[in-house]
Amino acid sequence: MKTPYLMIRDPELKNIMLIKDFAHFTDRGFYLDPFINLISNSLLFMIGKRWKIMQQKLNPGFNSGKLKLMKSLRTGKKMAQLSIQARKELVLNNDLIPEEKFTDIDIVANVILLFAAGAEPVFDTFAFCFYELALNKPIQDKLRQHIYVTREKHETMRKHSEVIVLFREATNTYPVPGQSLIIEKGQKIITPTNSIYHDPKYYPNPDIFDPERFSPEEKAKRPKASELFFSDGLRFCIGKRLAEIELKLCSSEIISNFEVLECRKTENPIQITPTGMVVKPKNGV
Ligand code: HEM
Repeated sequence: MKTPYLMIRDPELKNIMLIKDFAHFTDRGFYLDPFINLISNSLLFMIGKRWKIMQQKLNPGFNSGKLKLMKSLRTGKKMAQLSIQARKELVLNNDLIPEEKFTDIDIVANVILLFAAGAEPVFDTFAFCFYELALNKPIQDKLRQHIYVTREKHETMRKHSEVIVLFREATNTYPVPGQSLIIEKGQKIITPTNSIYHDPKYYPNPDIFDPERFSPEEKAKRPKASELFFSDGLRFCIGKRLAEIELKLCSSEIISNFEVLECRKTENPIQITPTGMVVKPKNGV
């Protein structure tokens, strides 16, 4: 059977759903059979209160001031510590009521997610960033003088976003403020993000790689929801800070020591293919 999805394109409404009225849209609304895939027990798929409990255990480790630049180099150790702590508090703790108790499988699923889900988008963003810098030599040369990669990183994630949509499910019936639309409980929702990143209304000449789109002046011209690279609100990407630190560290290191050039195999434009829930370069970068 086909499932009807409500598509939300309006940036204001996206903000309401992701941030202001998040309490009505806490779940992603997609499920995996736990007997088939262990990852179904991870944050990505968890719902309701159980997601909240697990997220609150793992999030501080990733997003507090504790995650300093040098410490991020020892990420593996940090993730292991975080998981051991989560196991102590959520699995071995006999004071918990059954709904709040987790199993070893839940912990293992989240460890796998954090290692696997985390590594790939960072590597790919990194590769796409250097792909664009190789094709846009003047931008690369300018960057080498300033070594401040934030704008280049954001422009890479805009032009080559692998997460092309966000998923939510209405966890309560929700009358959309100021409109006649009522979103019924259980309604699945899809929010296209990639199409915003390529909409000339928000990003003129979207096929051009132009990091200056992310100068404070240019950013001020766009609605906040036109930049959802790590999403927003309570269910945003838990690895955002870690990913940003890794990208900054590795890119600065490469750009200050090497010149990146196109080669025979460089595709322009690069071919993209859907793989699972994300899109990826068909023949690598
Ligand atoms: C460039 C790198 C990355 C990008 C662009 C990215 C992007 C995203 C996006 C768009 C979401 C969906 C959020 C939503 O539905 O609202 C997400 C979720 C998630 N990401 Fe990332 N991510 C990146 C790196 C990482 C890293 C390094 C980790 C962990 C080590 C990570 C772990 C997760 C997890 C666990 C979730 C699910 C969060 C939840 O449901 O509470 N990601 N990511």
